[in-house]
Amino acid sequence: MTRILAIETSCDETACAVLEDGRALLASVIASQMDIHARYGGVFPEVASRQHVLSITPVIEQTLARAGLTLAEVDAIAATRGPGLAGSLVVGLNAAKGLALGSGKPLIGVNHLEGHIYSAWLHEANQQNPPPAPQFPLLALLVSGGHTELNLMRNHLDYQRLGATRDDAAGEAFDKVARLLGLPYPGGPAIEIAARQGNAQAFNFPRAWLDDSLNFSFSGLKTAVLREVRRLEAEKQPLPIADLAASFQAAVIDVLFTKTLQAARQHQVKEIVIGGGVSANQALRAAFLGQNEFKLHIPPLKYCTDNAAMIAAAGYYRYSLGHLAPLAIDVLPTWPLS
Ligand code: KG4
Ligand code: ZN
Repeated sequence: MTRILAIETSCDETACAVLEDGRALLASVIASQMDIHARYGGVFPEVASRQHVLSITPVIEQTLARAGLTLAEVDAIAATRGPGLAGSLVVGLNAAKGLALGSGKPLIGVNHLEGHIYSAWLHEANQQNPPPAPQFPLLALLVSGGHTELNLMRNHLDYQRLGATRDDAAGEAFDKVARLLGLPYPGGPAIEIAARQGNAQAFNFPRAWLDDSLNFSFSGLKTAVLREVRRLEAEKQPLPIADLAASFQAAVIDVLFTKTLQAARQHQVKEIVIGGGVSANQALRAAFLGQNEFKLHIPPLKYCTDNAAMIAAAGYYRYSLGHLAPLAIDVLPTWPLS
């Protein structure tokens, strides 16, 4: 049996988790800074790194206590090495280095994006009949605040990028459009809630198909929403927030869903994995759950947004394949998956 303790501090969540054999989650603790950053309408990098400094040790101690383990009982220490905010990544990686140095356990540097993909492998340690693990080859759709991409995985840790956004990430588009509509940060959940009362056909917002390529573009959609808001404001009409949110959300999901299925067909895979903060969106989940052409793996809601359990899952496969890191590694604020 192999236990990985993992740390995640790439953005505004300080998180730690302990995982057994790549899938069974013993403990996961997340200290969120959301309320602090909501005041600024987005993540304030220097505030984020200093909050990580305050939270990291209690979060690690709480995780081990919840798992009922000591550091001596874990096999390796994983941490997110990138991509993310440099000042935030440094706190988690250095904490992991300290634990590795003090305990003599190996260090593993994990890519945050692969973590989001590996969240599809997670289940609770005490869960009866856990779902089967994803099988390769598979198509992974990663939709977060910083990234939107499609990867073909033929094996563990093997990523072939088939397409990615040319401008805004899907989550970024949600956040920017939320701001336009006067909704709070983070925008994704706020848009989802507003959209529930709205008509998704009220506005016919553009879908960027990009000549059938597997790339994405969301900045034109964001501009289209802005133009509509300006037009309504100029006409002194009240903003139909729910209809705007629902129509915008439908346009994003339409493109994500259609291109993911197109990629899966082109590459003849049988399974699709979805990860990243936007995969928490119920309308997006419903679209994918509504098809039965491909076997779908979507993480439970609490593992869609940033957490350390997913870093432990990816860390386990890195550890199993001998991808250990020397203690001298630096953070990688920009670190493409493939
Ligand atoms: O994966 P994540 O927690 O952090 C990054 O690695 O970026 O993703 C955060 C992003 C934010 O843009 C947030 O607005 C979006 O995910 N998000 C959602 C929802 N929950 C979070 N977008 C749409 N619907 C949601 N329910
Ligand atoms: Zn993330």
